[in-house]
Amino acid sequence: MHVILMGPQGSGKGTQAERLLPRLGLVSIATGELFRNAARLGTPLGLRAKSLMDRGELVPDDVTIGLVEEKLDALGVLRSRDPAVLGALYDGFPRTEAQARALDDALGRRSERVDSVVLIDVPRERLVERLAGRRVCANGGHVYHTVFNPPKVEGVCDICGAPLVQRADDTPDAVRRRLETYFRTTEPLLAFYRGRGLLKTVDGDAPIDEVTEAIVRAVQPVPSGAGRVG
Ligand code: AP5
Repeated sequence: MHVILMGPQGSGKGTQAERLLPRLGLVSIATGELFRNAARLGTPLGLRAKSLMDRGELVPDDVTIGLVEEKLDALGVLRSRDPAVLGALYDGFPRTEAQARALDDALGRRSERVDSVVLIDVPRERLVERLAGRRVCANGGHVYHTVFNPPKVEGVCDICGAPLVQRADDTPDAVRRRLETYFRTTEPLLAFYRGRGLLKTVDGDAPIDEVTEAIVRAVQPVPSGAGRVG
């Protein structure tokens, strides 16, 4: 199963991915997180990505697609060893039509396909307040909000105890640029997936747990026979 989470910056893709992965038996393919990990390690790719990310610009398609292909190869190995792994949850990928087509090709070569695309719909005016209050674990991954999803102890990750920090691209300038890029380049992809009957929309302006349940319902296949009378 291959499920794509879509939505603008601050819509809750990362927050929901953390909750959905164990529920759905999927592994994460979160390109932003992959770039941030590479930057922490100081690899040439990570350093190049970091300077683009900090300015709120996209990493070039060829680099991003190459990284996702590597993750799909690793997923293939994992699935051959662990039948509980059912596929991947994409967070932050694809963001351009070239990336969407490359994902189709990459899955097609593996006799697989995108099964569901879920748009987490949040009014534009909410996004900036969510990003301004976002705090992330310094070890990466875990996402909090000072008001909407605070940690038990201020400034400390509930899960691993690491300090919570602000992301380098949550500055007002970078946020403005990232949102502009989303509405110009990524939002048109919704029509691409809608046209193929894959797009489902959930209300992302609801409590975090309710959004999770709505996504689970949206991606689960309707059991055969459901809806039949008699
Ligand atoms: P990436 O890491 O993917 O970031 P993003 O797309 O900018 O998305 P965000 O992480 O900002 O938002 P989110 O939807 O995950 O929200 P979150 O769950 O944190 O990408 C970073 C950069 O990497 C890009 O700018 C680009 O440079 C590069 N990159 C990545 N992928 C790329 C690609 N495919 N191609 C090219 N370049 C790429 O939630 C936000 C806040 O809201 C949190 O504080 C959270 O606690 C809170 N919140 C969440 N849900 C709720 C709720 N229901 N109610 C109240 N608060 C909530």
